[in-house]
Amino acid sequence: MPAELIDGRAIARKVRAEAAERAKKLAERGVTPGLAVVLVGEDPASVVYTSSKSKAAEETGMYSLNLRLPVEISQQELLSRVDRLNADPKIHGILVQMPLPKHIDPDAIIRRIDPYKDVDGFHPANVGKMLIGERDGFIPCTPAGIQVLLRESGVKTPGKNCVVVGRSNIVGKPMAALMMQDNENANCTVTVCHRHTVDLRAHTSGADILIVAAGRAGMITRDMVKPGAVVIDVGTNRVADPSSKTGTRLRGDVDFESVREVASKITPVPGGVGPMTIAMLMLNTVRAAEMTTK
Ligand SMILES: NC(=O)c1ccc[n+]([C@@H]2O[C@H](COP(=O)([O-])OP(=O)(O)OC[C@H]3O[C@@H](n4cnc5c(N)ncnc54)[C@H](OP(=O)(O)O)[C@@H]3O)[C@@H](O)[C@H]2O)c1
Repeated sequence: MPAELIDGRAIARKVRAEAAERAKKLAERGVTPGLAVVLVGEDPASVVYTSSKSKAAEETGMYSLNLRLPVEISQQELLSRVDRLNADPKIHGILVQMPLPKHIDPDAIIRRIDPYKDVDGFHPANVGKMLIGERDGFIPCTPAGIQVLLRESGVKTPGKNCVVVGRSNIVGKPMAALMMQDNENANCTVTVCHRHTVDLRAHTSGADILIVAAGRAGMITRDMVKPGAVVIDVGTNRVADPSSKTGTRLRGDVDFESVREVASKITPVPGGVGPMTIAMLMLNTVRAAEMTTK
């Protein structure tokens, strides 16, 4: 029997409804949560991502500031823009869209964001809190969203072998850190794979929960997946598709058609992890406003 689809759009709608409800409660005491989305340059994919984040913020009842800055902006000027947002009481969450132009050090920018406004959860203070299991920081939106997908789909995680393919700071590492925590939505035995992993298949085929964030279209095939595994596909790769109007389509890191024949549950691309990332950003921003306006 083909795997059950994990409907990221439906679960994201629930999360966004919760964020909107909490934003409404804040409004009752005169606080409008504010999200600043900063985009440097005009990379088409980043323009789409930032616009959808700002739109989601408005739909959630938040104040949204969409700051578009020229690609030639200096690092110093960008840092001072961040300083101004840090000091702005209307702004509770700040997100600087990555990647930044080559002349700007992304770590310097991330470190400058006030950790209490770091709704992306990339500041070292928040990364550290996540690693030691403290709950009052911000968790990066994509791995946080994946944990919610697993919980809402009824996946029991304790004691399971969880294999994460990819070790980026925004997905793989925080994902692994979350799944090894001592709580009912985690408690997994975690393996992290990357380009130096010898015999990837030997690892992935032992996974009860397989989370793939490698950015390689269709790299996980049926023979690499244990029958009955839960498969979460983070990859969003644009591939050629002459049958589509634009000539391209999105494809995940998992070879969906073959893997769904062996998995028990699987996320589609699109419509799986993607919508959760934005939903968790909304929740993080509402939390930021709740925490700083108590
Ligand atoms: N849906 C969403 O909301 C969302 C959010 C974020 C990212 N994404 C997508 O998720 C994918 C990963 O994103 P990312 O930012 O984490 O990418 P990234 O920074 O490029 O990291 C990719 C990771 O995958 C590993 N990797 C690459 N090829 C591999 C292979 N053949 N075998 C084993 N490991 C391999 C790399 O290993 P090394 O470290 O050894 O190089 C690296 O750790 C991309 O397609 C991205 O577009 C989606």
